[in-house]
Amino acid sequence: MAKANKGDLKAETLLSVLGRDAEAHRGVVNVPVYHASTILYPTVAALKKAGKREFGEVFYGRHGTPTTFALQDTVAKIEGGWRSFAFGSGKAAILASLLAYLKSGDHLLMVDSAYGPSRELATGLLEDLGISHTFYDPLIGAGIAELMLPNTRVVFTESPGSLTFEMQDLPAIAKVAHSADAIVITDNTWASPLLCNPFDLGADISVQAATKYIVGHSDAMLGMVTVTEKSYEPVKKAFEDLGASAGPDDCYLALRGMRTLAVRLAQQGETGLLLASWLAERPEVNRVLHPALPGDPGHDIWRRDFSGASGLFGVVLNPAPEEAVAAMLDGLELFGMGYSWGGYESLAIPTYPHQVRETSDWDPAYPCLRFHAGLEHPDDLIADLDAGLRRFNALL
Ligand SMILES: Cc1ncc(COP(=O)(O)O)c(C=O)c1O
Repeated sequence: MAKANKGDLKAETLLSVLGRDAEAHRGVVNVPVYHASTILYPTVAALKKAGKREFGEVFYGRHGTPTTFALQDTVAKIEGGWRSFAFGSGKAAILASLLAYLKSGDHLLMVDSAYGPSRELATGLLEDLGISHTFYDPLIGAGIAELMLPNTRVVFTESPGSLTFEMQDLPAIAKVAHSADAIVITDNTWASPLLCNPFDLGADISVQAATKYIVGHSDAMLGMVTVTEKSYEPVKKAFEDLGASAGPDDCYLALRGMRTLAVRLAQQGETGLLLASWLAERPEVNRVLHPALPGDPGHDIWRRDFSGASGLFGVVLNPAPEEAVAAMLDGLELFGMGYSWGGYESLAIPTYPHQVRETSDWDPAYPCLRFHAGLEHPDDLIADLDAGLRRFNALL
């Protein structure tokens, strides 16, 4: 189960108790949704005091309301960080964490298997701002030393990788980065705050697309940046500069999602592994990309660094025409087709890693798929996949 290095209480218990203050809210279990732009103060002295913008104190709606603070505290503690900031999307959280440490003339090392729009920030906005980048092989480990330039300020990691699920040796990478005075940002969305404590592994900043498992019900956009005491000030500044903070309704939904995170992940991780194991035995499947499967190239790192698996994984099919893949996916009844993931529902999409990778060869002849295991019964999901593979085979 989840690592419980947060005081005496285990993470599952903390998910129930953190961020609540019934006494302050007339006995109501959940912190209500505080909608606010203007906050009123009774005196000039109180107004001035609020203007210091202490973390977790109301000042002006953009800086957060008590609903925001309850979510921020909960995420920070579960993920093992010091404090968290809530943004309007995962992408805004990624941008803020990068801008917190990068300025014109700096160099960024970004993992080649990063989420597509993270890569696009490197090649687009950051480049326009005079920040250069190199995409590195996700399996590089301590070899990243060879890519460090005198102006490398940030090493961006994401493990497992988006679409391709390679595991990164975060402690080895962090050691090199820190010895060169660079900081390590990690996109920890796959694990959620529960299944990996990136700060124990050497990360300075962790980003969550809270849109996924934290919200957990596919009905809100949200991003979290969790920091250490050391990385707090630069991220706070970026949070305030960007003004891209999360709205209180979405924070409420995210906090509500956190309450069931452990049970959802336990079930979705188990179902994901069942589906992955079933698919691995199928003749149509060339390779399953799931670090929790024994035999996966990243399995040892996953065992060392993670306390569980979420429900997202990939599959490489044997060469087949596009129509066969489309027939399989189009007819699925329980797997929806659409972007994002982390909700209670199963999903399947085709992916095209050969279009976005620089450091590795992904052969376009081998179609790739990404699956997300939801909370449906695994027998029903397997029957749906089985019917899909029959449609696939009919068009070979
Ligand atoms: C790994 C990862 N990071 C970040 C994001 C961005 O999150 P958002 O969609 O909330 O902007 C996503 C979204 O799919 C993602 O998969």
